[in-house]
Amino acid sequence: MIAAQAGDVLASDHGHAPGKALFTLEVLRCNPGDSADQPHWQSYFVELTEGMTLFIALSEIREQQDPSLQFDFVCRAGICGSCAMLINGRPGLACCTLLAELPSPTRLAPLPGFALIGDLSVDTGRWMRGMSERLETWITGASTERDICEIEAPMEPSLAEEIYELERCIECGCCVAACGTAQMHEDFVTAVGLNKLARYRLDPRDDREDAAFYELIGNDDGVFACMSLLGCEDVCPKNLPLSTQIAYLRRAMLRESL
Ligand code: SF4
Ligand code: SF4
Ligand code: FES
Repeated sequence: MIAAQAGDVLASDHGHAPGKALFTLEVLRCNPGDSADQPHWQSYFVELTEGMTLFIALSEIREQQDPSLQFDFVCRAGICGSCAMLINGRPGLACCTLLAELPSPTRLAPLPGFALIGDLSVDTGRWMRGMSERLETWITGASTERDICEIEAPMEPSLAEEIYELERCIECGCCVAACGTAQMHEDFVTAVGLNKLARYRLDPRDDREDAAFYELIGNDDGVFACMSLLGCEDVCPKNLPLSTQIAYLRRAMLRESL
């Protein structure tokens, strides 16, 4: 069992005003670069202020209590996907999570399914790039050889909106961390990969037919590995219609297999 350590940060060590509401964060810490370091829980205490997000609390801890604490952020606005972590066991974005909506103590752990950089920081970038290269998540086909001076063919606004809806994925990795199949089967393309292919399948500028998509996902690492339990859609911070897209793809790939 991983236990809190003697080095846990104590509220009184850091000058918190007596009587102020303190919130306890228990962070699963681990530095894979240090072979002597074992995973352990470390407790931190922060003064709860109005509108405080988990990201703000972690930043305060790093600035005022423990500069060694590792976690990622860029946008602080739910746009970049960097700050995803397990919050009481559920994947979510630290910058979009209010402390006031969490119980104290709250436990934070890194997203499973990605290489650990340290503490709450994982390498989603390398994973997403690998997935993208494997599934060729870009406009593909003969018509990609374009004259850039040519006027682009107009697209129906309703189709542009459908594509935009799927394009909102921020590659946070929450759907991968929540996916039982992905945790058991590391080659599974996952909901983020399937959503990306669904987006290119809609795009008239992409010349690929379903036979080409079948080559990519018509197998046991692809859409047929999905168990349809929908953990991905439950946790997606952008509320992407993942279940619908997976169902459309599965039906299309089944047709292709006949
Ligand atoms: S599909 Fe949703 S949960 Fe998955 S990476 Fe994209 S935004 Fe994150
Ligand atoms: S529905 Fe499919 S992709 Fe989504 S969490 Fe379940 S197994 Fe994973
Ligand atoms: S910091 Fe960008 S999504 Fe949280």
